[in-house]
Amino acid sequence: MSAPQIVLIGPMGVGKTTVGELLAERLGSTFRDTDADIVAAEGREIAEIFVDDGEPRFRALERQAVRAAVAGHPGVLALGGGAILDAGTRELLAGHTVVYLSMDVEEAVKRTGLNAARPLLAVNPRKQWRELMEARRPLYTEAARVVVATDGRTPEEVAAAVLDAL
Ligand code: S3P
Repeated sequence: MSAPQIVLIGPMGVGKTTVGELLAERLGSTFRDTDADIVAAEGREIAEIFVDDGEPRFRALERQAVRAAVAGHPGVLALGGGAILDAGTRELLAGHTVVYLSMDVEEAVKRTGLNAARPLLAVNPRKQWRELMEARRPLYTEAARVVVATDGRTPEEVAAAVLDAL
């Protein structure tokens, strides 16, 4: 197979990596994460790329990583939470089996709290989450073939719901 079976999108902290690994295990395929690909290629953490080079540069690196992964990885793929902000990245997802893992704002605050490793949530997480979700929800929905709500569900339950939905 030349295209990924499943591409997971959704906000940071929603469980894309955990659910993606479970899905790969259940499908007998492999898991790949574009954040990890970027860190490996750059030899720097994502927070460092944001601080040193700025978000536009990060989004360009992310677009390259998504292009390589959708073309070259036949298993389960997880994208960074903001990947869908980039129009070029959104185009790359057309025609793929894209699954949006969603959560509401309170669930997001509960799951991520104050996490310095996530540069977009450095201050006032609830307000930032609200704004971030309002801006991104339409983009996630537009890019996705199916939406799976994760609120109050374990990663195992979410993985099962994804498989049911496909
Ligand atoms: C980001 C999400 C992160 C990472 C970067 C930016 C975002 O990925 O790509 O910190 O803009 O939401 P995860 O969703 O894997 O945490």
